Amino acid sequence: MRNIILIGFMGSGKSSIGKYISRTLKCSLVDSDSYIESKYSQTISSIFSQKGEEYFRQLETDTILELLSNNYHGIVAVGGGLPMKEENRDLLHQLGYVVYLRATVDSLEKRLTGDTKRPLLQGGNLREKIESLFEKRESTYVEISDLIVDTDDKSFKKIFEEIQEGVKESENTCY
Ligand code: S3P
Repeated sequence: MRNIILIGFMGSGKSSIGKYISRTLKCSLVDSDSYIESKYSQTISSIFSQKGEEYFRQLETDTILELLSNNYHGIVAVGGGLPMKEENRDLLHQLGYVVYLRATVDSLEKRLTGDTKRPLLQGGNLREKIESLFEKRESTYVEISDLIVDTDDKSFKKIFEEIQEGVKESENTCY
């Protein structure tokens, strides 16, 4: 089976669904945020505040390059901003089958209320921040994904079945 790459907005469930799939398929999972935090022994928030966003974005690209050069096999859940950098898009496609886990702004707001770990959402009005970032990012998520799965009100099992179906079809396709 091809690697499955989960993309989507913060709070769209990439990490939880990634864990569910990796448990179900008994294959490994790399979550780019956790990978960076453990490799550099620093939280994402502290990387942002001490080194800045651009530095963090380079660590994200380095993570994908590392997975490619190690010929990684498994599931990858990537931070919500990673696909926004153009060079990462081609790398994600080289790494595997790209699935956009789409959620509505309403459900993102519910899931992200009270969050203290995501630097881009701290301070100010949460709803406005989500709306403005979502508007900037949504078209890129759609454009670069091999499959879009709407996640609102769906069980992990159902989401996983849709992903499996998509991967299977893609394996039968001649590009
Ligand atoms: C970010 C998403 C976060 C994390 C960082 C920046 C973003 O990951 O990488 O806070 O720019 O959307 P999640 O999407 O896993 O929350």
